[in-house]
Amino acid sequence: MQVSAQKIVVLGTGGTIAGTAAQAGDNIGYTAAQVGVGELLAAVPGLQALAGGPLVVEQVAQVDSKDMEFGIWHALAQRCAACLDDPAVGGIVITHGTDTIEETAWFLHSVLAADKPVVLTCAMRPATALVPDGPQNLMDAVAVAATEGARGVLVVAAGTIHGAQRVQKVHPYRVDPFNSADAGPLGWVEEGVVRLAHAWPQPARQVHLAAVLHRPADAAWPWVELVVSHAGASGRAVDALVRDGVQGLVVACTGNGTIHQALEAALARAQAVGVRVLRSTRCSEGQLLPKPGDALVAAPGLSPVKARIGLVLELLA
Ligand code: SIN
Repeated sequence: MQVSAQKIVVLGTGGTIAGTAAQAGDNIGYTAAQVGVGELLAAVPGLQALAGGPLVVEQVAQVDSKDMEFGIWHALAQRCAACLDDPAVGGIVITHGTDTIEETAWFLHSVLAADKPVVLTCAMRPATALVPDGPQNLMDAVAVAATEGARGVLVVAAGTIHGAQRVQKVHPYRVDPFNSADAGPLGWVEEGVVRLAHAWPQPARQVHLAAVLHRPADAAWPWVELVVSHAGASGRAVDALVRDGVQGLVVACTGNGTIHQALEAALARAQAVGVRVLRSTRCSEGQLLPKPGDALVAAPGLSPVKARIGLVLELLA
């Protein structure tokens, strides 16, 4: 695959990739989001050559991704949309924490018609680690962003390319913490060259960009909560949320979308008073198969956190 000569825009948002620890050998006792994205790039020799064209750096945010907020997503959507519209830009790289990267990826997939690569990357070890994984991940992400024909919102880490829909963090420590479940990854990056197992993702069918950008960045977004069905579940949390004005509920169901009867009764009450209720599954592989006559709508193929983003965007639209 050929390398383009267009600009690659790198948007920094923080994460462990930008983290620092007091001791170089410490891979867990660090503070995320300390080093600027420009400094991170400057520490990787050869990145510029790999990009094939100018690398432009912007710090959009500087957060530990557990604290990711809609305001940052708003800013990211705005910057990505502008870059996608700019013929001088060939691809976008976003540095991000691993903890919610799959949510940001799914949000961006849902709001952008990404006919260029939008590549999120990250690290499991801080920038100060003896053997950090961030520099290689950055190189791989830039290689993907510069690959002719690449498109879609992607997550690149540990030499693997994942699509936004299936990617999930499955491990809290190892340097390859993601998988794409039974769908498998989209491909790999090997010595700067992409090897694909599947086609690049199709852009989202329904793009919610206008609804997102129309709002002030600090406006409150629709209130959608996650609830989990489990042994001994009750409906009390749902009843309290409804009393407080929740607008949507996503249920992480057992198996193929089943729900503890006490929780299910509360969800039926919630739906009856106008709260949008959506079922997803706790299972990390496969996808929920809806049946005729199901009382609660399902979100097949989406994990609970991604189904929640879908419902927020629907309520926004
Ligand atoms: C974060 O998600 O910002 C911290 C954890 C990580 O990046 O691995």
